[in-house]
Amino acid sequence: MKKIYLDNNATTPLDPRVYEAMLPHLKENFGNPSSIHTFGRSAKAALDKAREQVAGLVSARLKEIVFTSGGSESNNYAIKGAALNQRDRGKTHLITTRVEHESALYTFRYLESEGLRVTYLGVDDRGMIDLDELRDSITDETALVSCMYANNETGVVMPVGEIAEIVKEKGALFHTDAVQAAGKLDIDLNEIKADLLSISAHKIYGPKGTGALFIRSDPAQESILRILIHGGGQERGKRSGTENLPGIVGFGEACEIAQKEVARDRERIKPLRDALRERITNEIPGVRYHGDPDNMLWNTLNASFSGVKGESLAMNLDIEGIAVSTGAACSEGKVDPSHVLRAMGASKEEAASSVRFSLGRITEKEDIDIVTKKLPGIVSRIRSV
Ligand SMILES: Cc1ncc(COP(=O)(O)O)c(C=O)c1O
Repeated sequence: MKKIYLDNNATTPLDPRVYEAMLPHLKENFGNPSSIHTFGRSAKAALDKAREQVAGLVSARLKEIVFTSGGSESNNYAIKGAALNQRDRGKTHLITTRVEHESALYTFRYLESEGLRVTYLGVDDRGMIDLDELRDSITDETALVSCMYANNETGVVMPVGEIAEIVKEKGALFHTDAVQAAGKLDIDLNEIKADLLSISAHKIYGPKGTGALFIRSDPAQESILRILIHGGGQERGKRSGTENLPGIVGFGEACEIAQKEVARDRERIKPLRDALRERITNEIPGVRYHGDPDNMLWNTLNASFSGVKGESLAMNLDIEGIAVSTGAACSEGKVDPSHVLRAMGASKEEAASSVRFSLGRITEKEDIDIVTKKLPGIVSRIRSV
């Protein structure tokens, strides 16, 4: 049985070219980039090259890229770092949205427990925030606005360029979680006036446990973040700890490949996603899609199948060798319907009956043919019991 992987928003397979680039750094090039001998200098050269590759993907400057352990750490650092730094200056209000990834949402909850005030902006049924509401929510006390670039569950893409303009006009800091957008959309930080932007390697065919935080360098301003990890002063003092060099080298390679191949990926994968949607629509009644079709990542399809539990559908597809994900977050055996779909106005039942198909570089036309052949039977079987 052919195994079909349609969960690329959860993670992507390591690109073989990334693997090749990493190998020497798991073997002979094991030096510590902070050491002054030849081993260290060679490691430092690899670190510098990776920084160029990562900066290139988002049109940042080299000194604006800080390597982290992934998207969650980047979000934590950006949000806590900015909030705590600004609190020292009397700004105690933060703004985010109801549809953020847990690594951002729970960071805001933590900051609330520390006495900061947080406004959670709602979204409409297409998953979009209201820009007027955003504008009206920003006050002189607002330290930071954080809004994700593209949603991991629905693929909805937020107008971050416009959001950044509004936030900067009002004098607050703007962070965006671009973990799902990077490698799928062209991100140009000369155009988008974000102060902080999070990315992660394993969503773009790089290794797990590596990411970066872009911190805009502004000579007119002192550091915009409270430092969270102290120690040997790596990453220009912004994030101590010996760098995960194999991971970072892989991340760099993945960024360079993504930059070169994003247009080709989109041209090949979007029609597959569209065909999947069309065939589901034609062959299965009672399906509702989530998100604005004109404003979505080209690899993502999130659909609710009425009368069908999302986990049950995902488990039945898994038995047939097809990996998809449910919008529901599972922790310790309890399943909560997706906070993202609920924020978009979906009922509990509807949210609990959704699955996410996320396509990627390894998805072939044959995969979509197999899925669309098997899916109607599985759905009607579940509906009949
Ligand atoms: C939008 C978004 N932000 C942050 C993260 C966390 O990234 P990481 O897995 O690298 O910690 C994810 C991962 O699912 C994500 O989809």
